[in-house]
Amino acid sequence: MLELQSVTHTYANGVRALDNVTLTIPTGMFGLLGPNGAGKSTLMRTIATLQAPSSGSVRFGDIDVIAQPERLRQTLGYLPQDFGVYPRVSAYAMLDHLAVLKGIAGRGERKATVETLLDQVNLWGVRNKAIAGFSGGMRQRFGIAQALIGNPRLIIVDEPTAGLDPEERNRFLNLLAAIGENVVVILSTHIVEDVTDLCQRMAIMGGGRILAQGAPVDMIGQMHGTIWARTVDRADLPAIMERHRVISTRLSGGRMVVHVVSPHDPGDGFAVIAGGLEDVYFAALHPVAAAPLAA
Ligand SMILES: Nc1ncnc2c1ncn2[C@@H]1O[C@H](COP(=O)(O)OP(=O)(O)OP(=O)(O)O)[C@@H](O)[C@H]1O
Ligand SMILES: [Mg+2]
Repeated sequence: MLELQSVTHTYANGVRALDNVTLTIPTGMFGLLGPNGAGKSTLMRTIATLQAPSSGSVRFGDIDVIAQPERLRQTLGYLPQDFGVYPRVSAYAMLDHLAVLKGIAGRGERKATVETLLDQVNLWGVRNKAIAGFSGGMRQRFGIAQALIGNPRLIIVDEPTAGLDPEERNRFLNLLAAIGENVVVILSTHIVEDVTDLCQRMAIMGGGRILAQGAPVDMIGQMHGTIWARTVDRADLPAIMERHRVISTRLSGGRMVVHVVSPHDPGDGFAVIAGGLEDVYFAALHPVAAAPLAA
């Protein structure tokens, strides 16, 4: 279990990227959902001991992550958002090299580790090809292979599905799900479906703060009966936004579908809908009013 208590981080330029973050992350897949600039990468680098927070505490089991970063690193697998290692060497050679760096000194053990990982991430067939020539999806799968060296108990993957096509995204998420059964996996994303499909627990982050956290099903359940929708003409949108708490607007077949939050019938022809995690997300991000997202 990973526990963050009142973690705050202010960069030298004055940006408060983390603002009093308190989170408990149990074993399994945990989704960290937030828009660009929410503070996700800052939080993940902090947990990965690449930067110390301005204040607050981070514990992983009996490890005090800030006081004992080297202990955490022994059990950490990290796939950064900008994993920029695409050398002209083969996937096999690179993974072998990274395994040496992670302290797997014995040749036999290293061979077994590297070959098992290449097979697990479905890169066995291209193990002798240069990583520089890999597609985005293959690179991400190589990225997860390097994160898994040494059987880490804490795995952090920062926006791994951005830029993947649907098939590669599915393949990647299935891989993570298989890993995430016995260890803590933190997945940051701005794609709501990544979390819906995969995570037992999640947090929504915005402006450096945790805006909501819990199990996706519970969070959807809590909004039951409060999400209303209707199709509007573009011209009517400003008036609708004035009168209602609009959480999202999106084009559908050339018309605009508006979702609003209201504990009771808001009138104006809105109909109650089941609502999904996307509504939970937008409601958390826009507690009062929303700018039109698709206008
Ligand atoms: N090294 C840095 N120095 C100064 N400000 C930074 C630094 N890194 C990030 N920030 C700022 O901190 C805030 C949070 O950034 P961060 O990269 O953690 O967000 P994010 O949720 O990962 O965003 P994205 O989805 O775009 O990756 C932003 O306002 C960003 O501009
Ligand atoms: Mg980021």
